[in-house]
Amino acid sequence: MSYAYQIKTKREYNEAYKKSIEDPEAYWEEVAASFIWKKKWEKVLEWNFTAPDIKWFKEAKLNITENCLDRHIEANGDNPAIIWEPNNPDEKHRVITYRQLHKEVMQFANVLKHNGVQKGDRVCIYMGMVPELAVAVLACARIGAIHSVIFGGFSAQSIADRLQDAQASFIVTCDGSYRGNKVIPLKPVIDDALAQCDTVKKVIVLNRTHTPVSMIKGRDVWWEDEMKKAELSGNLQCNAEEMDAEDPLFILYTSGSTGKPKGVVHTCAGYMVYTAYSFVNVFQYTLGDVHFCTADIGWITGHSYILYGPLCAGATSLMFEGIPTWPDAGRFWDIVDKHQVNILYTAPTAIRSLMGFGISPIEGHQLTSLKVLGTVGEPINEEAWHWYNENIGKGRCPIVDTWWQTETGGILISNMAGITPAKPAHATLPLPGVQPVLVDEHGNEITGNNVNGNLCIKHPWPSILRTTYGNHERCRTNYFATYPNLYFTGDGCYRDNDGNYRITGRVDDVLNVSGHRIGTAEIENAINMHTGVIESAVVGYPHDIKGQGIYAYVVCSNIHGDETEMRGDITQTVTRIIGAIAKPDKIQLVNGLPKTRSGKIMRRVLRKIAEGETSNFGDTSTLLDPGIVEEIKNGKI
Ligand code: WTA
Repeated sequence: MSYAYQIKTKREYNEAYKKSIEDPEAYWEEVAASFIWKKKWEKVLEWNFTAPDIKWFKEAKLNITENCLDRHIEANGDNPAIIWEPNNPDEKHRVITYRQLHKEVMQFANVLKHNGVQKGDRVCIYMGMVPELAVAVLACARIGAIHSVIFGGFSAQSIADRLQDAQASFIVTCDGSYRGNKVIPLKPVIDDALAQCDTVKKVIVLNRTHTPVSMIKGRDVWWEDEMKKAELSGNLQCNAEEMDAEDPLFILYTSGSTGKPKGVVHTCAGYMVYTAYSFVNVFQYTLGDVHFCTADIGWITGHSYILYGPLCAGATSLMFEGIPTWPDAGRFWDIVDKHQVNILYTAPTAIRSLMGFGISPIEGHQLTSLKVLGTVGEPINEEAWHWYNENIGKGRCPIVDTWWQTETGGILISNMAGITPAKPAHATLPLPGVQPVLVDEHGNEITGNNVNGNLCIKHPWPSILRTTYGNHERCRTNYFATYPNLYFTGDGCYRDNDGNYRITGRVDDVLNVSGHRIGTAEIENAINMHTGVIESAVVGYPHDIKGQGIYAYVVCSNIHGDETEMRGDITQTVTRIIGAIAKPDKIQLVNGLPKTRSGKIMRRVLRKIAEGETSNFGDTSTLLDPGIVEEIKNGKI
């Protein structure tokens, strides 16, 4: 399989970019011709950013799994679709061919149907990184059910909120999952979530860790039993449901600057076309290459670049259950050599944490199979970029710094491996079809080079989010209302003298902790639920490994036990309400917060204190009690 839409030279990139701007519809129509459709579109694009109302490939009918699976069977059915590397290196890895994956997906799709799942139903998936997670996701897509994968680090409360918001009626989970030397219970967390959520009718449970779990008669069924039943029924086929181009494919919850996570909705056709297109072009994928994306499928990176993008391209995608530092900090390099990985796509936080172990874990590894390296999720600092380049890529692998978001569905700004030049710490150039603009706070476009501004996008690309589930107004106000006729990313950005883009970080109240997005308001809400807490303010501060750490200033009415105990209790509350990923790194108990006379917290001052600044707090004359700043500064931890 070669890809008609693959850009192979810098010149082709320039031409493609030009065409995609001058005539976006013609450009994407040509790309879309490489996919399998049940019915062709009547119109390539209809859009306005005011509503917003965006329709790509209008009236087209398709099923994404026919593009991910069926189409590869004849010519490449025996090619590995997924190579699965277990957490424990002593356990045997699995190679799942396209033919096998196709069969399993159809079988599990039948299981879903037998259990009452219908097109349009929301199915929540809460599993570890096992191949069955891929099967569950694709089986939903096969029958037109809308999957919503929830990352294993979220608490019962977070799951319950998401189940309610999505009105999910089915859950697929595991008894537990393995992470390093730990067994993480999953089904018990689901049970706790279900105690406060009555929309769910059935829970399908895969046995992975043999952790004892309660199975409620009539509601909970075992994956293995159901699969056996489906096999015995003799019906091994499951036709791909005919989906409209704009039918929802999945919901993925992500944090914003307000207290509640939003369910970002992606639809079938545009998402499919853009993830495959960006996968092939950014990584310069060649059939047979082994692609290793280290993200979890609970995040958008796993959706787009472990599953949908690679599988649509007939690629071999490596899925890893464990963590980079277990049994030791050489695990990624063991995997690269063992499976002859050609493309490694990971997060700057992982690189920085591995850097901390020095180069001895790399010694004894060949790493000669590597051709392309990638990063995603947060700005990469130059030191980490050079370490990655020299020690892992040995100076011969292009590094793609890919900027995108849950809402964008796929990579929007990145160099293309070996085609367009890399520049350390810069995402560089937009992909064809992507029109970035920088604006000032009034929404005026900042033209020219060597400028900073807020990053917006001017024209829709095929995998732009369509709505936030159950609340379209929220989608409009969050992304399309700040600046008229522009999609606002929430990121600050610099454009250098050559037109390269460098993302400078969020300009809203969203933190990026180890590449995970967490809204400060969400953490504050959780802290404020703790008894004895009056109010709190959460800010980010630079953290050597995580990129950003979480710093919480908390005002208490009474402190239970001593301060250390109180801090421990607050941390426990956050873990309960959101999950371990939102645990504050530092909690400072304070007597008051710096507030203006109108009651607004002056976060800028708190941010500076958390960053270790001791003076230069800017204008604090509007503060109700300027003395509080000094007090907080002196109590910094
Ligand atoms: C940040 C992850 C700098 C950015 C795919 C964005 C980046 C947020 C980069 C989205 C990058 C992502 N350089 N910053 N290459 N990639 N970001 O939704 O702030 O989990 O808005 O999607 O991560 O995070 P999300």
